[in-house]
Amino acid sequence: MNSKAPEPLPEALDLQRLPDHVAIIMDGNGRWAKQHLLNRIKGHEKGADTVRRIVRTSREIGIPVLTLYAFSTENWERPKTEVAALMQLLKRFLRKERATMLENDICLSAIGQTERLPSEVRNELDAVKAATASNTGMRLNLALSYGGRQELVRMTRTLAAQVAAGRLTPDAIDEDTVSAHLYTAGLPDPDLMIRTSGEMRLSNYLLWQLAYAELYVTNTLWPEFSRKEYLDILVAYQQRDRRFGRVRA
Ligand code: FPP
Repeated sequence: MNSKAPEPLPEALDLQRLPDHVAIIMDGNGRWAKQHLLNRIKGHEKGADTVRRIVRTSREIGIPVLTLYAFSTENWERPKTEVAALMQLLKRFLRKERATMLENDICLSAIGQTERLPSEVRNELDAVKAATASNTGMRLNLALSYGGRQELVRMTRTLAAQVAAGRLTPDAIDEDTVSAHLYTAGLPDPDLMIRTSGEMRLSNYLLWQLAYAELYVTNTLWPEFSRKEYLDILVAYQQRDRRFGRVRA
């Protein structure tokens, strides 16, 4: 966070009714770079600035949990140079933002197959996770080498192994059991999922956890996603009628 006074908040935003958990698909870095005749890596670098802006805003207004889709299992299939650049960017981000997270009481966590990350990134990630573990102001949760289907397969294997070992009966498995064996165990499900750059898809993101989330897709490309648009989306979220499959009371 910087020391400048933050811009005013929209009057319509009710700070008492914020989502407990916001999940974001940060899409459009490549298109932004193309539009500006830059290479895709520059788009990701600019995207990292947006990450800082949205984390700062979330912390400022009091969003308890923010999950960002920083790297999907499918992203490993991108050209080697792009994957390497994203890993470097991630490492730099973790190194640079560590102090800011400590100052602002932010706890960093990660979901996904983090064992697939290069060891230098994993070490940095583990160090920041450990350093911020007791912070309670906000949870910044990075989805890294994350895929929703892989997460469900992993959960299924764990539960199947428990059944095979006689430690669990099939009848005892309920929704809470499933939730407790996902990467997001202990976190509330997202109330709001925002996707930038206009695509109307989930892209293997939090498939179980988004069951009742409000979805908001904006055409804005991630590098241009502003604090103002984020706050306006939160206002729009508060105007939605969430029924969870029931009729209105
Ligand atoms: C999607 O844009 C974005 C990604 C695959 C990576 C997201 C990474 C960042 C925002 C920067 C680094 C993150 C952190 C946490 C420091 P795209 O490349 O798919 O864009 P396109 O669809 O326009 O090609």
